[in-house]
Formats: sequence, C-alpha cells, structure tokens
Amino acid sequence: MRKTSVYIPDGLKRRLAALAERTHRSEAELLRTAVDALVSGGHEPSPPEAPVSGRLVGVGVGPGPADLLTVRALRAVRRAGAVVAPSTDVAAAGRAEAILREAAPDVVVERLVFVMARDQAARASALAGAVDRVVELLDVGEEVAFITLGDPNLYSTFSSVAAGVLDRRPGTPVLTVPGVMAFQELAARSGTVLADDQQSFLVLPANESSVSAAGGALAAALADASCTVVVYKGGRQVAAVADRLREAGRLDGAVIGELLGMPGERVAAVADVAARPASYLSAVIAPAFE
Ligand SMILES: C[S@@+](CC[C@H](N)C(=O)[O-])C[C@H]1O[C@@H](n2cnc3c(N)ncnc32)[C@H](O)[C@@H]1O
Repeated sequence: MRKTSVYIPDGLKRRLAALAERTHRSEAELLRTAVDALVSGGHEPSPPEAPVSGRLVGVGVGPGPADLLTVRALRAVRRAGAVVAPSTDVAAAGRAEAILREAAPDVVVERLVFVMARDQAARASALAGAVDRVVELLDVGEEVAFITLGDPNLYSTFSSVAAGVLDRRPGTPVLTVPGVMAFQELAARSGTVLADDQQSFLVLPANESSVSAAGGALAAALADASCTVVVYKGGRQVAAVADRLREAGRLDGAVIGELLGMPGERVAAVADVAARPASYLSAVIAPAFE
C-alpha cells in the first residue's frame, strides 16, 4: 500500500462522511473504490444525451439514501431542460429534492407547491397550479423531469400531474424512470424476504377504514398466511396496525422502517415501537410465513 494525500472540498468531504456512516465503510475504503473504478474505466462519464423537446418524464429518486438513485434517473435529470419537484412550501426543499441535492448538488430544481391537507379544494387548486407550470415549461420546448420519492408509478403525485398535463396537452410524450421503493430498502435493511416460491405480495395504504378491526382490508389481507403484506402511509396508525398483526398472529417478524435514508431513520420490530405513532414516511412489512 502507498499513501496519497489529496485536498477535497468541504461539501464533498461532508457527503463522503455521510456515505461512510450509512454504508458502515471507512472513508478511505470508499475513496479507494472510487479511484479504482475511475482508473479502470468503470465509471467514465457517458456522452450527454439530447433532451426531447416537450416531453414529460417522471423520475423516481428512491426512498432516501442518495446511493439508491439510479444511473438512469441521474441521466434523466441531467438531460432535462427543467427539473421540478413537489414541495409543501416554496421555501422548503421536499424529500425528492433533498435526495437529488445530495446525489447531484449541481442540478437546479424548481419547486411546485402541493397541498397535503384534507381540504380537497385546496389540493385541487395546488395541483392545477403545478400542472399549469409544467405545461408552460413544455410549451416553451423543455423536456421536463418531475422528480418523486420512490417510484413514480406507486402512490406518487406524478400520476395526477401527468394526467393533468395530458388533459391540457393531449399527445404529450410521457415517460417514467423507475425508482427503488421504500419497502425494498426496508426488506434489505431488515433481512426480510418479500416473497418466495408460491407466496404472494400485497401493498396496502393505511387509513382508518383499512386498518379498522372489523372487516378492514388489512385484517382480510393478513388472514392469508402465504401473503406478505406491506403497509404504506401508516405512520399515524402504527398501534392499530400492530393490533391487527397481533390478532392475526403476525406481530412477530413484522418490521417497520421510518424515514429510511433520512435524518431520524429507524428500522425496528413493529412490536417494539407500536406504542407511539411514527412519521408519515413509515412502511411496515408483515412477511408471509407459509
Ligand atoms: C405518497 S407515498 C410515496 C410512495 C413512493 N412513490 C414509493 O414508490 O415508495 C408515501 C409513503 O411511502 C412510504 N415511504 C416512502 N419513502 C419512505 C421512506 N424513506 N421511509 C419509509 N417509508 C417511506 C411510506 O409508507 C409513505 O407513507
């Protein structure tokens, strides 16, 4: 081994330290891997692709860790003339923007403000505003990349935006770039097999009726021991989800991932954390056992 000293900028040093912590590898080991890939030609930058004027691309940026952003996603945002991201306030970076900022801090992101509260009129008006802006960008000939947490085809605002754009601009080419979903990261982090052999797999959004005891969708899904059940959007209802798991004899082995890849992240057994609500970004896996 030979020693080499290099100066690296503060921002890169911070991101290197964060990656080392997340991956449980030393900074030196990460640097050796990166330099090795560079000199052996593995990561040579490919020539930039040309944007397609007037095309809308939904880009999944993964659940949180910047190293789960795919090469295709990175190419799509670099190719696009305009990159937009959902946010709850024009002055606050949303989750998708934060992920992209860590992976590619040079990419400029425009925020589109969405309303998450129950007020349907406010939600519809914010969505219409976002669609207006995307249409405006497409009309001046930009390729627009709409970045979104996880995958753009699973519970994402991208579907509503794409539908709104197609209403206003029929024939707009729409493309999606898949992203790693939170339950996949949770399965990897907790060593959980999602399905094997003849087992099936179901993703369920939690709400008061789906997690309610009598006849709720969660209780019905858990009754099939050969079906792995993933519960999304269940942060507020962790206690009710745990009750249903216990009644079905499936509390043991059920895991929860909260804020995966983000500050405050937690991966735990549901049984250990059921007493208190978790944040909105929480996913539960109840693995099949037959
Ligand atoms: C509006 S949906 C977005 C889903 C996203 N499009 C995907 O493909 O994963 C939000 C739900 O996704 C799950 N989720 C997304 N990112 C997560 C993360 N980093 N940690 C835990 N759960 C997450 C949670 O169940 C959350 O309530």
